[in-house]
Amino acid sequence: MTTEKLKEHMKQAMGRLGASVTVITSHDGTQKYAMTATAVTSLSLDPPALLICVNRDNGLHYALSDGAGFCVNILYKDQQDISDTCAWKEKGEERFNIGDWQSSEGDIPYLMNAQASIFCDLDDTHVYGSHSIFIGKVKKIITRNEIAPLMFVGGNYFSPPE
Ligand SMILES: Cc1cc2nc3c(=O)[nH]c(=O)nc-3n(C[C@H](O)[C@H](O)[C@H](O)COP(=O)(O)O)c2cc1C
Repeated sequence: MTTEKLKEHMKQAMGRLGASVTVITSHDGTQKYAMTATAVTSLSLDPPALLICVNRDNGLHYALSDGAGFCVNILYKDQQDISDTCAWKEKGEERFNIGDWQSSEGDIPYLMNAQASIFCDLDDTHVYGSHSIFIGKVKKIITRNEIAPLMFVGGNYFSPPE
């Protein structure tokens, strides 16, 4: 199989691995960043830590490469417009024009009405191929009561029946 074909098959196979949609935010001291992401995984409970995978071409990658902290905002099922905005509809700080964004310590924005917002200090980085793995040591969490995730499966948004 050619490399191009393998990449296509990889995308199709990963599309079958349904995942909850998040928006990862950061601030590099000058500018705010937001990026829609599904490559977010719980890593450790002691200490509480998670990992995210970010394409090295993405704006957020520059902030995190400089050691900035970040926040993982887990979206509700009715926040598809925020996901699209932070993936492709807008660029740079224009991404914060929709949604109820507030600033936390270090000026890192968080979404007031996300299912959960998980604030992390950057603790480790591993570059691999097109992406980097960033490990975040969790320092603060805000959760809301209702559990109703926005998911992404087979290239489409999906929400599980309540
Ligand atoms: C549902 C969904 C999930 C995504 N997950 C990731 C991800 O985990 N990591 C990543 O690097 N890009 C992911 N992307 C793509 C980025 O959101 C997109 O490339 C990025 O926002 C481009 O930002 P930039 O214009 O600042 O470079 C995802 C996009 C969508 C629609």
